[in-house]
Amino acid sequence: MKYLIANWKMNSIDIQKWKNEFEDHYKEFKDSIEIIVCPNFIDLSECSEKFPNLIIGAQDVSSHSEGSFTGQISAKQLLGASERLKYCIVGHSEARSKGDNNLLVREKSEQLRNNNIEPILCIGENIEVLRKGKRDSFLLEQLNFYFETGLYPKLIAYEPIWAIGTGQAADQKNIIEAFEIISNFLESKKSEKIPLLYGGSVSAENIEEIMSLSNLSGCLVGNSSLDGKEFAKIAQKF
Ligand code: PGA
Repeated sequence: MKYLIANWKMNSIDIQKWKNEFEDHYKEFKDSIEIIVCPNFIDLSECSEKFPNLIIGAQDVSSHSEGSFTGQISAKQLLGASERLKYCIVGHSEARSKGDNNLLVREKSEQLRNNNIEPILCIGENIEVLRKGKRDSFLLEQLNFYFETGLYPKLIAYEPIWAIGTGQAADQKNIIEAFEIISNFLESKKSEKIPLLYGGSVSAENIEEIMSLSNLSGCLVGNSSLDGKEFAKIAQKF
């Protein structure tokens, strides 16, 4: 199975227009690929109705189940907005930069698991960590903390922060090395196979090169998912 995720972030999308453009350029839905759209919370319900052939994911969830947490949205409320909701992103670097530490990422995942929503765990280093040659230990720290309590994500996306939104995707060598670290870690945990995805400036231009990596199960796409036509071109190459 391959996975292609659209992370629309906080961008305003004309959902009908996106749908028309996507469907004009992506004719044939295949059982071998899950195309997952992650809109913001208020668009979850409309996306669920308009995209019967796509899988629905959320971008964030509260680490609490109920109560006085102003502005937060619980896993149960996510399901209230979309019964078809299957996934939710956790640990995205943009959320980590606003305070989502390893503990919070794990607590959010527990909430998701309690509500039968599958966590998509994002991990990745910033440029300083990479330059200091500390990428591998950094990734292992994020993984170790997450798996400590026996929690497993459904998908893991390696998203080097220096490649997100920069137009400069990581090169194959970097992705291969990071995947090896993650795979070895999962093996050491005797984990069942967790599909590994790449994210960071994926586009219709570089998708073929990225997808040629043998142990890559898919991609998480930000900017290039905002346009239905561009995203369809990426999906077409899967
Ligand atoms: P990008 O975003 O494709 O715009 O680099 C990826 C992400 O943030 O997940």
